[in-house]
Amino acid sequence: MIDIARETDLREIAKVHTKCFPGYFLTKYGEKLLAQYYGEYLAEGVPFVIARDNGKIVGFCMGYIGQTKAKTKFLKKNFFGMVGKTLKLMLTFDKEVYSRIKTNILPSIGDGNSEEDEEDEAYLLSICVLEEKRGTGLSRELVEAFEEQLIKKGCKGYALFAIEDNDRGIGFYEKMGFEEVRSKDGSIKFRKALQSN
Ligand SMILES: CC(C)(COP(=O)(O)OP(=O)(O)OC[C@H]1O[C@@H](n2cnc3c(N)ncnc32)[C@H](O)[C@@H]1OP(=O)(O)O)[C@@H](O)C(=O)NCCC(=O)NCCS
Repeated sequence: MIDIARETDLREIAKVHTKCFPGYFLTKYGEKLLAQYYGEYLAEGVPFVIARDNGKIVGFCMGYIGQTKAKTKFLKKNFFGMVGKTLKLMLTFDKEVYSRIKTNILPSIGDGNSEEDEEDEAYLLSICVLEEKRGTGLSRELVEAFEEQLIKKGCKGYALFAIEDNDRGIGFYEKMGFEEVRSKDGSIKFRKALQSN
């Protein structure tokens, strides 16, 4: 069953994120901060849908339309927690941490929108489905529900970024009608036009 995400779903959403994106940059900050991160987007009323199975959240898809201040607000509210965690992560000398601080955190301290954000009207930021539910068509249902929200708000298209070695994710996006726009620093930008009926 596909549903609109609510504030009470945030802790479960953070758990699903942690299981689906092990080793990813944001995951390293822990479930509490993750729930607050997604919470800032939810509070802005962005398109945010969840998939439930027997009442439990097994996947979600979210993004935003136009300019967003969610990341900046999140960083401001969690400044000390983020600095402490970031310093700890930097001590692991993980290359991804350094590159993500440069591309994700530093641009958000300015006006909250990176260069890429201004090129497209909407972005899909996160989609995931628990491993045991992959290959079942749930992810397609999530994308369709997400797109329905974009269309309702008058969007004509949207974009997303995928890590270039995420073969399954890229296979899925291509199957869903996305086209590659460009590839840079290990990440590929995809775009899809939307048609309202
Ligand atoms: C990305 C994700 C939501 C897709 O959902 P899914 O249920 O796995 O997707 P599907 O099985 O419907 O489609 C995957 C497509 O990828 C391809 N694929 C499947 N397994 C693959 C594999 N092991 N390697 C490469 N491609 C693969 C196929 O083209 C498949 O389409 P098909 O059903 O026509 O064969 C899900 O895999 C997931 O949550 N992954 C972890 C989080 C993630 O990476 N999110 C995307 C970030 S960019």
